[in-house]
Amino acid sequence: MLAKTIARSVAISILFVVSSIAYGQQATLTVHLDKPTAKVSPTLYGLMTEEINYSYDGGLYAEMVRNRTFRGNWSGILYWYLVEDGNAQAKMELDKSTGPSAALPESLKLEVTQADAQNQAGVLNQGYWGMAVTANTTYSGSLYARADSPAIGSITVKLVSNADKKTLASATVSGVTTDWKQHQFTLRTGAVPASSANHLELTVGHAGTLWLSLVSLFPPTYQNTPNGNRIDLMEKLAAMHPAFLRFPGGNYLEGDHIADRFEWKKTIGPLVDRPGHPSPWRYYSSDGLGLLEFLEWCEDLKMQPLLAVYAGYSLAQEHVNPGPDLEPYVQDALDEIEYVTGGTETQWGAVRAKNGHPQPFKLTYVEVGNEDQFDRSGSYDARYEQFYKAIKAKYPQLQIIATTPVKSIRADVIDDHFYRRATEFFHDTTHYDKTDRNGPKIFVGEWATREGTPTPNFGAALGDAAWMTGMERNSDIVIMASYAPLLVNVNPGGMQWETDLIAYDALRSYGSPSYYAQVMFGSYVGDAILDSELQSGGPKLFYSVTKDTAKKRTYLKVVNAESVPQNVDIRFEGGTVTQNGKLILLKALSTEATNTIDQPQNIVPIESNLRVGSDLRYNAPAYSIQVIHVDER
Ligand code: AHR
Repeated sequence: MLAKTIARSVAISILFVVSSIAYGQQATLTVHLDKPTAKVSPTLYGLMTEEINYSYDGGLYAEMVRNRTFRGNWSGILYWYLVEDGNAQAKMELDKSTGPSAALPESLKLEVTQADAQNQAGVLNQGYWGMAVTANTTYSGSLYARADSPAIGSITVKLVSNADKKTLASATVSGVTTDWKQHQFTLRTGAVPASSANHLELTVGHAGTLWLSLVSLFPPTYQNTPNGNRIDLMEKLAAMHPAFLRFPGGNYLEGDHIADRFEWKKTIGPLVDRPGHPSPWRYYSSDGLGLLEFLEWCEDLKMQPLLAVYAGYSLAQEHVNPGPDLEPYVQDALDEIEYVTGGTETQWGAVRAKNGHPQPFKLTYVEVGNEDQFDRSGSYDARYEQFYKAIKAKYPQLQIIATTPVKSIRADVIDDHFYRRATEFFHDTTHYDKTDRNGPKIFVGEWATREGTPTPNFGAALGDAAWMTGMERNSDIVIMASYAPLLVNVNPGGMQWETDLIAYDALRSYGSPSYYAQVMFGSYVGDAILDSELQSGGPKLFYSVTKDTAKKRTYLKVVNAESVPQNVDIRFEGGTVTQNGKLILLKALSTEATNTIDQPQNIVPIESNLRVGSDLRYNAPAYSIQVIHVDER
């Protein structure tokens, strides 16, 4: 009996192996080069961003000084420490009675009782888990200071190595008086080793009292923009060819409480007039990357802004009643749109010009709120309607995105969010196949396969790529999509949300396998979806076919999420393709394989030439994502 059972189960296993090899071995994909079925949305792939995981402060925004305005004072002034060299003596504390502006009414007070040129006293800042210093580099700094007497003398500013207190670059700030004044300085390194184990010291060589505020230090930034962004991160984002930037959130737009929302008017103008605010991700935002910086980020990477306006709901179930109570918030959104798009003759366009950007920005999409399905009061329908009517009355050309379906009015676009496991995406790549083409358009404003930490592993990249084939095939209705979250600082305490696309510390950064999948899909979009059929193939074989009509170039994206290779016989009909194809291949040996801050290049796309005929017998490796492009004669 036992022998019979074993024999039967062996037979079943053999059958299973044979049939799985069979399904794994051969698929046929027929591509009709002359039959476009729909247009690919030109804005399909974009970026979603918010202050989470130290995305801006300690991330994209290149500021090196952490807590530059001395917020957070429950265990000393966070990230600031006293320096007493030799026999120098001093103490430091937060002084709530003096600061350089109404927005920054507090300052760091340093009382030096003993110091001289060789025995200096002062403060140091640790940076965001260190300060990245490289050879032959110029750092631009500034600080606000006042003293009880000019006798305090000059301030020495130094970049200092943590390990041995070696000075890597230094400058002198002189002319400190009894009045608050901003001082600029420059630090220039020589042949120093690249490292992030460094800090900034500000010291004096005389007794006296010194107050400091808004201490800032920037490395060279992307396109040398003052108050700008990290070069390595901007280059990584640029490689994704994003069409839009959704900002400023996400939960960061809403805040935990209404008072903690993203108040755009407090994020513009000189830094000294920006108070910053607490973010729902449990740290204080400097707002150095404010509304205009978001817009300039768009300009730098040629993305269109997708502006999310605060809509009267914050995460701790606080909401503003629709009607008169909501009016000031609606007006605030109208002012914000005017700041973005208005000519310099308008009130808020003039403010933008004063802030340094006279040229208005082009805007098509405005999103009203974020994830308002979580507002348990059920007020969103009416809030959306109020915003919609007011915005359309002044800006009829704008497309107004709802964060959840509404009944009061027909929304132009609905924002759908998906945070899933790879298997869930594999089973749902047809999600939008049957969506009503006469209903609102779809913006998949946040989505990700959440497997891997801090960044997604290759299994997640397969889930992502499979999902993207589905969105791409339906991009007549899915007009925009953006992965989230985008950025994460890998240092302890840097991450509030697991599985983020791009990661970094102060010195280095890397793209996850999912990042490279995004780069591949974003680089080869095309403008038309081609008619095609797949016969056979394993259950985890996914594809989409698009064409760049002007170039007569067809892009096939094939995702093999199986653990075995998959033969795909690709047949081209309705046109003749040239022999010179191209293959961009991303693959790994395991779903757990990944990139890390120390091994950033484990999994990267490899490009090679591919010989093509009217048929292409392509063998898709196990666990692989590929873009094949072929040209028509
Ligand atoms: O992406 C992280 C968070 O997920 C966003 O802030 C929020 O919109 C969503 O719940």
